[in-house]
Amino acid sequence: MTVHFIGAGPGAADLITLRGRDLIAACPVCLYAGSLVPEALLQHCPGGARIINTAPMSLDDIIAEIKTAHDAGQDVARLHSGDLSVWSALGEQTRRLRALDIPYDVTPGVPAFAAASAALGAEFTLPGVAQSLVLTRTSGRASSMPDTETLENFGKTGATLAIHLSVHVLEDVIKRLTPYYGADCPVAVVWRATWPDQRIVKATLETLEEATGGERGRTALIIVGRALGAEDFDESCLYAGDYDRRYRPVGTNPRFPEDAE
Ligand SMILES: C[S@@+](CC[C@H](N)C(=O)[O-])C[C@H]1O[C@@H](n2cnc3c(N)ncnc32)[C@H](O)[C@@H]1O
Repeated sequence: MTVHFIGAGPGAADLITLRGRDLIAACPVCLYAGSLVPEALLQHCPGGARIINTAPMSLDDIIAEIKTAHDAGQDVARLHSGDLSVWSALGEQTRRLRALDIPYDVTPGVPAFAAASAALGAEFTLPGVAQSLVLTRTSGRASSMPDTETLENFGKTGATLAIHLSVHVLEDVIKRLTPYYGADCPVAVVWRATWPDQRIVKATLETLEEATGGERGRTALIIVGRALGAEDFDESCLYAGDYDRRYRPVGTNPRFPEDAE
């Protein structure tokens, strides 16, 4: 028996890996985080599967369900939105499973920041503009932020920021980041990327508050950084005609001769 943690993607039901889909289809028990996981994914569950929305459950209750399935020798599909690597409660669940000696594995999913990038048709790292993407959030009721992980500290780097779980404090985010990025810095808010009611607002830090028209529905990403909408950036060397590289040796004395591994 194994608990399969599966990244269920950002919303669209076809944005799940084939492995994730097949695991759902193979498990007689499915626990899903109902607040963000699309119900359409549950169609992959086998007939007669025990399907439980964990949104209203405590961690104790969730682990009790898993333990019951484990004792019955039943595999469990455990669905969380996006990918499991960020804000998925994977850590606290797997710690309990290790203590109970219950085996588990993890199947990645499409994270919200990647869905937002696709919705915007924009790369978040551009040569000479930004080469880092910071996935962050602001303090919430359930989770406080470590002292050093402030918007101000990340703002000092000029990296592109993908700010989660924070659209309800948008004014505060704008106020804190403007001294570091400048009032004319491009910013986008993507609500419910890939869901049928996806909404995108593009603006600058100065104009964003007005541009959103007061919408603060919670499932949104705030993307901040000069890479958004930049046209004046260098092309990467990778595809430059005169750039000598292993897969495209150039010149009479290439650094990677063709017979090199
Ligand atoms: C608990 S976190 C889950 C993150 C998820 N594990 C991931 O990989 O993206 C929930 C937050 O992620 C962001 N989010 C999740 N799905 C989203 C979507 N479809 N569009 C925009 N933001 C989304 C929002 O900031 C939301 O408040």
